[in-house]
Amino acid sequence: MKYLVCNFKNKFVKEEIIKYKNQINEIEAKKVKLVLIPSLPFLAYFDGSNYELGAQDITSFIDKTITGEVTGEQLKSIGVNYVLVGHSERRIYKNEINIDFINKINNAIENEINIIYCIGETLNDKENGNTYMVLEKQISEVLNNVELKNIIIAYEPVWAIGTGVTPEIKEIKETIQFIKDIVEEKYDTNFLVLYGGSINKDNIESINSIKNLDGFLIGSSSLNINQVKEILLEIVK
Ligand code: PGA
Repeated sequence: MKYLVCNFKNKFVKEEIIKYKNQINEIEAKKVKLVLIPSLPFLAYFDGSNYELGAQDITSFIDKTITGEVTGEQLKSIGVNYVLVGHSERRIYKNEINIDFINKINNAIENEINIIYCIGETLNDKENGNTYMVLEKQISEVLNNVELKNIIIAYEPVWAIGTGVTPEIKEIKETIQFIKDIVEEKYDTNFLVLYGGSINKDNIESINSIKNLDGFLIGSSSLNINQVKEILLEIVK
């Protein structure tokens, strides 16, 4: 069953979230694993049975009392089963680095929360032919240091996020395979691998044709319920 992970980022206010929740609770999401990731204050609003809940963040601190942080235990207590770690926006704007990702992953594992670990090259990396090297580094520097449990990888080229530009289908397919091969080679295991970056109702058909892909991570398209419906229909076709 393929994943559709909806990352609302810092969008929606209370009234919008309530409207969205009422609409999404009505949607049929059979044969797809739908995961909704609203901002932390809105997590507890979602009570439908046709999706699972994810959080955009989890504390990187271990056993510390810290204002403003959210623990894995807290997330689990409101039914959160997934957490995003390593999203490029957090790498860029919050200066998060490998040790943060390692600690966050450990906190999630300890609370039986699945991790969606995001990796991806910048445009500069790509133009310099460094994509595979960067991805391998992002994988090994973090995954060498955690228990390999409950981890899904999301391949999200930084230059494709929120830009309307996506890699060629062939490129996505090859990169997904590279990631799967690396994980198998290094850790003798398999992870599900998702693609994210400017997916919408118009390009989902071709992206969904990629055989080795286990699902999709959508940002801006997830804010529009009609797009979500169309994307869901395409995935189960
Ligand atoms: P986008 O965002 O779909 O708006 O490109 C994807 C993401 O950041 O996960």
